[in-house]
Amino acid sequence: MSSGRGNPYPRYEAWRREGPLHRLAPEEMSPMMRVQGRMVFGGEIPPIFVAVTHEAVAEILRDAERFSSSGYARTMGLVMGHTILEMDPPEHGRYRGLIQQAFTRRALERWEHELVRPIVKRHVDAIAGRGRADLVRELTLPFPVAVIAGMIGVADRDLASFHRFAVELIQISVDPARGVAASQSLRELFARLLAERRARPSDDLVGVLARAELDGTRLDDESIYAFLRLLAPAGAETTYRSVSNLLCGLLTHPDQLAALRGDRGLVNDAIEEGLRWESPITTIQRSCTRDTSVQGAEIPKGSLVVVSLGAANRDPARYERPDAFDIRRPLKAHLSFAFGPHRCLGMHLARIETRALLDAVLDRLPGLALDPQAKPPEITGLGFRSPPELRVLFEADAP
Ligand code: HEM
Repeated sequence: MSSGRGNPYPRYEAWRREGPLHRLAPEEMSPMMRVQGRMVFGGEIPPIFVAVTHEAVAEILRDAERFSSSGYARTMGLVMGHTILEMDPPEHGRYRGLIQQAFTRRALERWEHELVRPIVKRHVDAIAGRGRADLVRELTLPFPVAVIAGMIGVADRDLASFHRFAVELIQISVDPARGVAASQSLRELFARLLAERRARPSDDLVGVLARAELDGTRLDDESIYAFLRLLAPAGAETTYRSVSNLLCGLLTHPDQLAALRGDRGLVNDAIEEGLRWESPITTIQRSCTRDTSVQGAEIPKGSLVVVSLGAANRDPARYERPDAFDIRRPLKAHLSFAFGPHRCLGMHLARIETRALLDAVLDRLPGLALDPQAKPPEITGLGFRSPPELRVLFEADAP
């Protein structure tokens, strides 16, 4: 299943057999890594290590003193501004304390009922009468971005350009000029929204960010824009891929899909297994701040550490038959949402979105199965992974 074009797992497996960290030889760098390396380090690429065991990944992510996130400033920071992703302690803790005020249990409940479920319903309604669909193009791709846009308060008429700018933003290493232009367009959109919330205080995300306060400190406008810019790629690109991967796992294992239909008590296990099996983001990055060692492997100061969440999730020392998709496997925490201080701030929302989508698919699309006329789906990608399409058939709703 998860084989074919752009599959990093066989490499991870080979490296893991050598030890917890693999030092990347120049010829092992992908063209994209070389481009990013030149952008970030001006040609002088430092030693690069890839962490591939569960223990090594957890040790690195737990320790922001030895393993800094500041390197993101030289890549994503160029278009997003100074975001929480690139902050280290103590700045990170203070900022996260402020941002977290917008992600309360009450806010999550409101988003679930006012945004997530109606948006999922709208998308499923659009296909339910047809009996066939591409679940990626028509469902998993558009719905999470509509949720983020709704949270931010982007008007329906601006939704398409919001989505386009969000995609262009993260293509900075492919087309820098377009990335910078998208960043500026998003700033203008957010500035309008912030001015409106200042004039008329509200309880939505922008309203809460405008008022958030911790020890007498408030977020300045640029910090709010940076956070909002991060949300679309952080919250939509990831969720669309993880939901697609889960549906792909279920559709290619019809016995497990049938088990889930028969026992909805398995939904949470299925969600976690989908995330473990195919992490939508396979790697994140840290820079090493001092000469140190991880699980016995030496890492010199200044090294770039590629932290492979995907490899950690398939470490045979932690998971039996790690490459198999199995919603009944004993639950053990995975690392797809990372770990430590930067653990994903939106993970509860991502789970709510996935549950809402699964409920709708199970309730509204009876007989759901892969279209036998279509090419079997394939999960592809080295850094971001998901199936480009999921062509399915189901029993159409009566007109
Ligand atoms: C399945 C879906 C998702 C996955 C797999 C995911 C994964 C991650 C990962 C791996 C990180 C850590 C990045 C790093 O430290 O380098 C992260 C951070 C973050 N995520 Fe998510 N994410 C998901 C959904 C969301 C959603 C829905 C939101 C918001 C609406 C969100 C907002 C954030 C934010 C703000 C951070 C930065 C936290 C910090 O630096 O302290 N994510 N996410």
